Amino acid sequence: MGRAFPTLTAEDAAELIPHGSLVGVSGFTPAGSPKVVPAALAARAKKLHAEGQPFQVRLLSGASTGPMCDDALAEAEAISWRAPYMTSAPFRKLANSGKVDFIDMHLSHVAQVTAGGFLGQMDVAIVEAVEVTPQGRVFLTTGIGNTPTFLEQASRVIIERNAYHSPRISELADIYTLPRPPHRDPIPIYDPLDRIGKRYADVDPRKIVGIVDSDQADGGRAFSAVDATSRAIGEHVCRFLLNEMAAGRIPAGFLPLQSGVGNVCNAVMASFSSNPDFPRFKLYTEVLQDTVVDLITSGSVVGASTCSLSLTDEKLQFVYDHFEDFADRIVLRPQEISNNPEVSRRLGVIATNTAIEVDIYGHVNSTHFFGTQMMNGIGGSGDFERNAYLSIFMCPSFAKGGKVSTIVPMCTHVDHSEHSVQVVVTEQGVADLRGLAPMARARAIIDNCAHPAYRDYLHRYIESAPMGHLRHDMKRCFELVNNYLESGQMLPDLDLKQFGA
Ligand code: COA
Repeated sequence: MGRAFPTLTAEDAAELIPHGSLVGVSGFTPAGSPKVVPAALAARAKKLHAEGQPFQVRLLSGASTGPMCDDALAEAEAISWRAPYMTSAPFRKLANSGKVDFIDMHLSHVAQVTAGGFLGQMDVAIVEAVEVTPQGRVFLTTGIGNTPTFLEQASRVIIERNAYHSPRISELADIYTLPRPPHRDPIPIYDPLDRIGKRYADVDPRKIVGIVDSDQADGGRAFSAVDATSRAIGEHVCRFLLNEMAAGRIPAGFLPLQSGVGNVCNAVMASFSSNPDFPRFKLYTEVLQDTVVDLITSGSVVGASTCSLSLTDEKLQFVYDHFEDFADRIVLRPQEISNNPEVSRRLGVIATNTAIEVDIYGHVNSTHFFGTQMMNGIGGSGDFERNAYLSIFMCPSFAKGGKVSTIVPMCTHVDHSEHSVQVVVTEQGVADLRGLAPMARARAIIDNCAHPAYRDYLHRYIESAPMGHLRHDMKRCFELVNNYLESGQMLPDLDLKQFGA
């Protein structure tokens, strides 16, 4: 016999979460993250704070969440500790002012460290679902994230049953979890679209304390229109990959692609479809952004393995309205599987991610501005780039209207090292670093990727630096950053008109 679960209001559910709890939330990006319970939790925190009482939780998610979760809780100062990734402006402000502890983690690690007990006992999981059966089958929505693990690990579970989503969404899910080491077998995915698991996640029904009904949309953010810079980056990546195919280094049937987050990656995906020579391909990736839905519709993308449908509401509605066209072409996996290093290496994934800055030897900073200010976090970029067949990092050659060069002598923070970054692309061109020693890497990056206005400075920097395996001048390696922090421009005398400012 199954259990009948009590229905609760969001406010009732929020009352069940004590101060100091470790709370796990479902989803990955705004896709599939809970909405009304976190918003009620934020309101409760505000009320308690106004009464002079402490109230904060430790928040663990799949990746970023939506505004009703991260933004609301950050604005209410209701978070003391947060992992593994975020994109919330109010939360970013707290993290960069030292008011909360933010732990920036590889996303494929989260399920394992949670199940391993590295983060302590999870008190409550708040999980968005389209339905839950009395036997404890939880049918998830648009983002899987770490939800199967959170359902297994949490002491208590609150289900947010969201009527906004098509009940068919759970047909895309492929839930497969890994036992604790050393009891793991190889993951039997041989093609991005292979299905190896179940359509639902399991939970012990005795742990479900109630169901809260909701009808909130994910509210995924829209991307900037494709501009000339991101179009140029896309065209360079496209040409580079076609040359690799022509040279026989990528097989004629192509390899699965991973596409990172943000405006640049969205634009690069669009450029693949506009090149008639580009082959049809599959994605093995963690987020599926709006452009990919268009590419699946046009046939450029055969199908995608992903962890979430990180779509605008309009694009998600399109998927729901044409569900038959997508049912066999999208597989939604837990992030431990979508980002799994073993699978990436074996399938030969081509990883395309965005950098904040790249140094002349090929180290990449994806997370911090000027060495100190957190943007979002490393996300899944490290899961893929370290284990890819080909690892490509892309960014515009300059930021802030030319005041900042994204190609610098030494990165102020390193997320991806020279050992695994193989190709760097800006709107200026492509630096293929494979097989190049440090000085040749430096010249390739400066001559092909730096903006011409910064090339002379960068060449002079290496030529005047003391000899070494890497040539660096420890007194000057952060000169550009220091100039920016002091004067607002990396090269204070540079005429910004040449950047179209
Ligand atoms: N110095 C200062 N600011 C910089 C900068 C630099 N070197 N590089 C970029 N910026 C600023 C831009 O000016 C822009 O600011 P604005 O919004 O005030 O104009 C902002 O950073 C975002 O830049 P944009 O070019 O729009 O980037 P994006 O949307 O393509 O995202 C990352 C780029 C790096 C922030 C994003 O890809 C990210 O968070 N990556 C890490 C996680 C990841 O790679 N996950 C994918 C795994 S699948």
